[in-house]
Amino acid sequence: MITLKSEREINQMLEAGRLLANCHKEIAKLIKPGINTFEIDQFVEEYLKTNGATPEQKGYKGYQFATCASINDEICHGFPRKNPLKEGDIVTIDMVVNLNGGLADSAWTYAVGNVSERTKKLMNVTKTSLYKGIEQAIAGNRLGDIGYAIQTYAESEGFSVVRDFTGHGIGPTIHEAPQIPHFGSPGKGPRLKEGMVITIEPMINEGAWFSQMDENGWTARTVDGKLSAQYEHTLAITKTGPLILTPQE
Ligand code: MF3
Ligand code: CO
Repeated sequence: MITLKSEREINQMLEAGRLLANCHKEIAKLIKPGINTFEIDQFVEEYLKTNGATPEQKGYKGYQFATCASINDEICHGFPRKNPLKEGDIVTIDMVVNLNGGLADSAWTYAVGNVSERTKKLMNVTKTSLYKGIEQAIAGNRLGDIGYAIQTYAESEGFSVVRDFTGHGIGPTIHEAPQIPHFGSPGKGPRLKEGMVITIEPMINEGAWFSQMDENGWTARTVDGKLSAQYEHTLAITKTGPLILTPQE
């Protein structure tokens, strides 16, 4: 069942989202060669605690960390770890913040030091594809309109869209109906309604879209060892259009 959120609920999620966005801005300053994702995870825990919030992912279905930290060919759900990040790597930090019961979910891919032109292109196309999806998140449109906008753009730039993981409805739990595929056909799927709160979180691969699961049962990575990037916002569908609840600008 797709639930619709009240203005009050959406405002609470926006408070969580503002905090999450500020946390990402702090992470951006920390990311450089030599730091490891375990330290970033600890920073996030501390940051949320200081600000009266909790990491909703920790303990979710047995997940052990505040953040997911997916490096290079890891598509999503990478475990924070003590291996230092290296110049030229990319790392996606993904987290769900709970502030007084309001949830917000946002992932961002960071470059570690200088990265290649091709890597920069993958990051830019992935971020732009997110905003192209968000533009379609309008009451009256259908779910397929979002996926179609993302897929046609990403593929026209020579990249591929991961099929095995989707965006989702969110609040009061992390994953609620509906699933939001980042590929699809225009005019297909459930109609979008005012009051829906969803995540859009395209995972875009440099090579093939296929994913394989690590032995840890969580981390998905590309089958060809090529890079994967991801940007994610939580947003509400409102009378006046999509309202990003995790805004960084
Ligand atoms: N933030 C993730 C998402 O975008 C949720 C991951 S749940 C976890 O769907 F337990 F793996 F952290
Ligand atoms: Co997320």
